Amino acid sequence: MSKDRLIIKGGKPLFGDVKISGAKNAVLPLISMSLLFEKSFTLENVPDLADTRLMIKLINALGIMTKFYNGVIDFHGEPQNIEAPKELVSKMRASFLILAPLLSKKHNAIIPMPGGCEIGERPINYHIEALQRLGAETSFQNGFLKATLPNGKFYGNIIKFPQVSVGATECAVMAATLATGKTLIYNAAKEPEIVDLGNCLNLAGAKIKGLGTDVIEIDGVSKLNPVTYSVIPDRIEAGSFAIIASITQGEINLLNLNPNDLNTFFEKLKQTNVNIEVYNDTVKVKGVSKINSVNVQTEPHPGFPTDLQAQFMSLMCVANGKSIIEENIFENRFMHVPELRKMKASIKINGNVATVNGLKQLQAAFVKATDLRASMSLIAASLNANGESVVSDLSHLKRGYENFEEKLFNIGADIR
Ligand code: UD1
Repeated sequence: MSKDRLIIKGGKPLFGDVKISGAKNAVLPLISMSLLFEKSFTLENVPDLADTRLMIKLINALGIMTKFYNGVIDFHGEPQNIEAPKELVSKMRASFLILAPLLSKKHNAIIPMPGGCEIGERPINYHIEALQRLGAETSFQNGFLKATLPNGKFYGNIIKFPQVSVGATECAVMAATLATGKTLIYNAAKEPEIVDLGNCLNLAGAKIKGLGTDVIEIDGVSKLNPVTYSVIPDRIEAGSFAIIASITQGEINLLNLNPNDLNTFFEKLKQTNVNIEVYNDTVKVKGVSKINSVNVQTEPHPGFPTDLQAQFMSLMCVANGKSIIEENIFENRFMHVPELRKMKASIKINGNVATVNGLKQLQAAFVKATDLRASMSLIAASLNANGESVVSDLSHLKRGYENFEEKLFNIGADIR
């Protein structure tokens, strides 16, 4: 049997504690940001994920030395090369995050077009336009982006994003940090991972205001000082385990998270009738036998996160009645639907709207993970299903969930 699949015997309530790991979507920009430092920088609470290791390899290829041990990364040195290796960039879309800091330090960068989850077109025009506003010149040649800073520096300016973009906001923040003058970013993304990036930069001496609001204001500084910084907990991992508690009618204590980062999600989960008790950095989620159907629409933060849409849909597959799930961030993020249908889920799709008719219990099936969050939705569905399911192509899951087999095993999941 391939190691790349999980065999799950469902229909059993899961109980216990799950310690939430550091956030994948926070650690990737933070690793890219190491390119901005002069000497050293240390990150703590780093999740050991395929994507983390890929991002480390990428900055190693650019000349930064690292040591990764027990959830800590020590970074040393400055970038030496300007070209990112295609074999690394093509595996992960977030590798594009190196562009702004690399350009800031080396004034030139050559980056192949990124890869990653197949959840839609995922263009990078906002990243490029933001860098151009700060003085970069760019051109595309044979699948590579070539960028240069003709004056050897970024210059502060006004950037207005036509649409909220997490990655492009991070790109603009990193470019503006060491720029000459003031940058104003309008229609900035407000995700906790962006606040985390900004908090780390500020600790190191950057001057960034307005984090977590629509407008971010950055006064450029000449250099960053060495710091040690701890990555925030992964709100998407926490939300995924909350769904697992709910869909198995179990009881799970989520430990070590920032509950406020998931306000909208927990609000929706409460409406399904699931019992939620929020403490400082712990949330107790207790499933119930009758789940109410609830409609959700994905939106930029603080709205319902697109990264929890697939998992929430699995729960709605066993809710009482009809729910409507609208995906507003990515145009191709229903790839879990054909797989959930193999488990007898009743889901109709019309454009970006899925209508789910709940049933009592899902049926075990052989299903294929198609992207990172879809794989967690299939695992949640399999944990509910009657019989033994196989979830194949687990490599997606390993990109974003640390020790997921061990965590599932510890709460009593029957998995092989
Ligand atoms: C990040 C997250 C991802 C999450 C997404 C939305 C990381 C590593 N990934 O992805 O998990 O699902 O935010 O919360 O943090 N867009 C453009 N042009 C651009 C950039 C984006 O048109 O240059 C569009 C995208 O196609 C999408 C929307 O903007 O429709 C939002 O995407 P964005 O917020 O940029 O997502 P990512 O940063 O790629």
